[in-house]
Amino acid sequence: MSDRTSPRPADTATIPDLPDLTITVLGAGNMGGAVVRALRAAGVPRHHLLVVNSSRDSSEAAARELDATAADRDKAAGTADVLVLGVKPHQILDQLLQVRDKLRPETIVISLAAAVTIADIENALPDGQPVLRAMPNTPISVGEGAVGLMHGSRVDERLHDLAHDLFSAAGVVVDITEDQVHAFIGAAGSLSGFVFSLIEAMTDEAVRLGLRRDLASRLVQQTVRGAATMLQQTGEHPAVAKNGVSSPGGTTVEGLAVLERLGVRAGVASAMQASAERSRELTEG
Ligand SMILES: NC(=O)c1ccc[n+]([C@@H]2O[C@H](COP(=O)([O-])OP(=O)(O)OC[C@H]3O[C@@H](n4cnc5c(N)ncnc54)[C@H](OP(=O)(O)O)[C@@H]3O)[C@@H](O)[C@H]2O)c1
Repeated sequence: MSDRTSPRPADTATIPDLPDLTITVLGAGNMGGAVVRALRAAGVPRHHLLVVNSSRDSSEAAARELDATAADRDKAAGTADVLVLGVKPHQILDQLLQVRDKLRPETIVISLAAAVTIADIENALPDGQPVLRAMPNTPISVGEGAVGLMHGSRVDERLHDLAHDLFSAAGVVVDITEDQVHAFIGAAGSLSGFVFSLIEAMTDEAVRLGLRRDLASRLVQQTVRGAATMLQQTGEHPAVAKNGVSSPGGTTVEGLAVLERLGVRAGVASAMQASAERSRELTEG
């Protein structure tokens, strides 16, 4: 246990700028791995990006795949300017207990875990340790994701800006409160899974209608991407864009009427609500 008991601000002046940061990712699985890719894309060199999994073999395999460096947990915790926690939520507090005495007082701890609050993490660490939560979705691995950042009480303006720089190649990065994280999960975290499921359904149907699977995949994916890009670039309301595709008595209105009759809009809303509610339940225990 540490004897650092009295609160003190982190000496953020000693934290280097992004290209010189040493970042340890403890748990480089689906989400930790996606974060490693985003950090590499943001300009963190491979020798400054240390990955630690549950065994040496697993760390080395992840490092090879992600173009990072495999490391030993305790050593990597001790040298980290930033420690990213990518283990499962039920492992977070135990892992923090194992590494807390290895961390430097100014090391920034960023948790990716759903349902583990900043207060829980701060309480598991020496007083004064800067803590953030980052809620990402998997498309961050290709620079097209979304990240919701939540800042603990010990994060000053410099660390806030640095956290935004870290995720600058991830896609959209927004500041949210811990209360908003449940809505964020419905609107971005879990939503990516819903979109994958809808793309799968649309592709299967395009194949049933007679297109080859490779052609069906290309057309569906490009249409989903193109529709989103069009809204982003024009700022148009989706209802107006939808109207633009809807000729009277035409093919699109015929299909849209079926979507409404089958309750697809209500189904999507219910799925988002269920994810947000589940997130709240998991957090509140
Ligand atoms: N998946 C998502 O879409 C998503 C979205 C937002 C947030 N998150 C959060 O991301 C976190 C990870 O979820 P995930 O889906 O990425 O899980 P995952 O793919 O199972 O990854 C977990 C990682 O933790 C490592 N690990 C397990 N035990 C360890 C130990 N004792 N020491 C070091 N590393 C250890 C695993 O390494 P081994 O392979 O060697 O066991 C693996 O790399 C969770 O907290 C989750 O809430 C996930």
